[in-house]
Amino acid sequence: GRNAFMKIAVIGTGVVGLTTGAGFADLGHSVLCVDIDAAKIAQLSKGLVPYYEPGLQELVTRNLDAGRLQFGGAPSHALRDAELLFVAVGTPTDDHGEMSLASLWSVIDRLEPWTGDSVKMIAIKSTVPVGTADRVEARLRSRLPEECLVDVASVPEFMREGSAVRDFFDPSRIVIGVASPETGARLELLHRRLPGGIIVTDRRSSELAKLASNAFLAVKISYANEMAALAEQTGADYPSVAKIMGHDPRIGPLFLNAGLGFGGSCLPKDTRALVRLADEAGAPQTLVAAAVRANVMLPLRTVRKLEAALSDPGRRKVALLGLAFKPGTDDMREAPSLRLAAELLRRNPGVRLTAYDPAAGEAARKLLPGAVKICATAEEALTGADAAIIVTEWREFRLFQAEDFKKWMNRPIIIDGRNSLDSEALNAQGVVCIGAGRLPAI
Ligand code: UGA
Repeated sequence: GRNAFMKIAVIGTGVVGLTTGAGFADLGHSVLCVDIDAAKIAQLSKGLVPYYEPGLQELVTRNLDAGRLQFGGAPSHALRDAELLFVAVGTPTDDHGEMSLASLWSVIDRLEPWTGDSVKMIAIKSTVPVGTADRVEARLRSRLPEECLVDVASVPEFMREGSAVRDFFDPSRIVIGVASPETGARLELLHRRLPGGIIVTDRRSSELAKLASNAFLAVKISYANEMAALAEQTGADYPSVAKIMGHDPRIGPLFLNAGLGFGGSCLPKDTRALVRLADEAGAPQTLVAAAVRANVMLPLRTVRKLEAALSDPGRRKVALLGLAFKPGTDDMREAPSLRLAAELLRRNPGVRLTAYDPAAGEAARKLLPGAVKICATAEEALTGADAAIIVTEWREFRLFQAEDFKKWMNRPIIIDGRNSLDSEALNAQGVVCIGAGRLPAI
């Protein structure tokens, strides 16, 4: 068959861009990663990944050493040698759901003309409003000289933080949204060594499928959380309810866990953007809008639970365990812990807060109110505490025994916000453990 070797450039060295770049290098392609953040590129050139993502450091080191992966160079020249440019820059959304394409346009509008007669490809990996690929192509074609041939594709990313490397090599699906069959065929060839079905479609469907998938996950989580609240109010046990629902293959067992809600760099911002986009398009997404509203209430609900379990919280010491938006990452973006800490302090002036996270402690220090004491270990955070809230379900918290909590804490009351502990066993051994969607033990 045709040789699938490609020269690829990637703009944006966040989790998506860097994993994509290093991943394709590992598959034998020649990859140049660029970023406007010179400090980040300087670090990466030395082989240092500036954030925590399992397996990514090893992947980068291996391919840097092999010479297949390089860092640096001007973003404006990204298409000089490469035939394909992945754009994986951030597209943050403000509180009103306005998705900023400033980084995307700054990349597109600065691209210098190139020479040579092959068609260059730009594949947009960033999550963007429907119609963005069309606009990018129109803008490039009106600005660049006619001999600079370019095709724009939408190749959305479905990898999760914390398992980005695994997801790159074993994707749930590969979506290629194109306007030309030739570009579709070239991008299919590039992805053919990865398992998982390849779906070639038009660019707008590809763009909407990405937003629709994240929004569906958000709806599923908010549904779980509202049902968990109903279980609490009616004396049912939500984990049992979820297990029973999950046995129906049409529902499925995944993403039904109740907790403090969805956070991170994608679900919150993509749902807000979809709601706004849908309103503007005249097809309001009432379910997604409700899922966003329900999500915002959860930290306050957890604070109320703590207040019900602990008298006079303003005079107590409370430990927060887990701060990152989910386990396996040091990412604090839209982490429920931030709202939780703020609500706790607002409603209970005087409460002393300690906090611990296996990876996100340093990142959290800059974001949490100054009154929160970030600790180096869970034991330190728990020592002398009157209650603890498990905010993020890191594996390490599951290893604690009732004896540990009783030894360290002043009063062993645990609000297990993610149902990560064996609450029955703990309750039987004298630790008050209150799960999400579960009845408090008497
Ligand atoms: C999400 C999607 O899962 C990816 O498919 C997508 O590629 C990515 O966004 C993106 O658009 O880039 P991610 O943000 O890494 O990935 O996080 P998830 O694993 O989806 O978790 C999102 C949030 O939902 C977390 O705060 C997690 O704690 C919460 N969650 C998840 C629950 O509260 N309950 C669940 O049952 C599952």
